[in-house]
Amino acid sequence: MKAVVYARYGPPETLRLADVQTPAPRGDEVLVKVHAVALNASDWEMLRGKPLYSRIGGPFRPRHHVLGSDIAGRVQAAGRTATRFRPGEDVYADILSRMGGFAEYVSVPQSVLAPLPSGMTYEQAAALPQAGAIALQGIRDKGQVRPGQTVLINGAGGGSGMYAIQLAKLAGAEVTGVDSTEKLEFMRSLGADHVIDYTREDFTRAGRAYDLILDLAGHRPVRAYRASLSPGGRYLYVGGSVATLLQVLLLGPVTGRAKRSTMRVLAVRLGAQHLVPLVELCQAGKITTVIDRRYQLSEVPEALRYLGEGHAKGKVVVIVE
Ligand SMILES: NC(=O)c1ccc[n+]([C@@H]2O[C@H](COP(=O)([O-])OP(=O)(O)OC[C@H]3O[C@@H](n4cnc5c(N)ncnc54)[C@H](OP(=O)(O)O)[C@@H]3O)[C@@H](O)[C@H]2O)c1
Repeated sequence: MKAVVYARYGPPETLRLADVQTPAPRGDEVLVKVHAVALNASDWEMLRGKPLYSRIGGPFRPRHHVLGSDIAGRVQAAGRTATRFRPGEDVYADILSRMGGFAEYVSVPQSVLAPLPSGMTYEQAAALPQAGAIALQGIRDKGQVRPGQTVLINGAGGGSGMYAIQLAKLAGAEVTGVDSTEKLEFMRSLGADHVIDYTREDFTRAGRAYDLILDLAGHRPVRAYRASLSPGGRYLYVGGSVATLLQVLLLGPVTGRAKRSTMRVLAVRLGAQHLVPLVELCQAGKITTVIDRRYQLSEVPEALRYLGEGHAKGKVVVIVE
């Protein structure tokens, strides 16, 4: 089969389209013919080995040689004990723990697969897992957004932000989206009440306070975020620099206490089983998935460069013919 492989951390040029052995499903594994695979910031980070946390499991060389985690496709074959899915069934999954989606086929444990939601295309389903889980848990489960609250989403113009803005609006919040200049209009189109261009303005110095800050691009010291929290407010770090991650882990509990606020890292529970409420909202037409660009398997390097250089508004999806 064809797969996009890499053997060392580096720029998109380190990726190449290669002929590799088609995996055989063993035990409870299911072989899926990949039809669509959506890109995430984690693919870009694991390609380059930056930030450092992306090297967990492979400090010097990549642990996985094929990236791509959010897949949708059709079951091709099942291992001896894999009884939940039959060949011909349409499925989708988040396979972040093993990767391998930038390929024609991938073999995955049946436990991570879910049936393709009815009414959804492969590309819509592939767009959901990682970005959807971050948004759902950040806004609803851990963010606990209520009507009338003020929510700031830092990095709101990307994949997770696309769902997070819409979920926060559905929850009745007043939403501020922060991202780069070319994404301001996109955030407004998703429903953001206010937008801030981070290349021109530092929201932590604007003197405004929020009930929830969902930080998809955390690069500031915790004291700066604390200054932007309302009393009793929540700050959730999802991604960004290792320095901010460590500060939130070590200092967050103490720093937040003064204002009765919570400052913590959101460890996202990944897996299609956690996405049910979001899938229902998508099926009801209340949440939209915006697919900015589609690429072919041979174009994965260009697709990752487009995402990594910060041009993507919403999701970028690779369609595997
Ligand atoms: N905590 C967990 O369990 C967990 C699990 C999975 C993933 N993650 C992390 O979640 C993060 C978000 O993922 P995503 O898929 O939404 O990423 P994404 O699609 O790349 O979106 C991130 C957005 O942040 C913007 N941005 C970059 N620097 C910024 C800054 N200084 N201030 C404000 N915005 C900035 C980017 O725009 P520009 O590039 O144009 O600047 C981009 O639009 C990633 O870092 C990923 O590693 C965390």
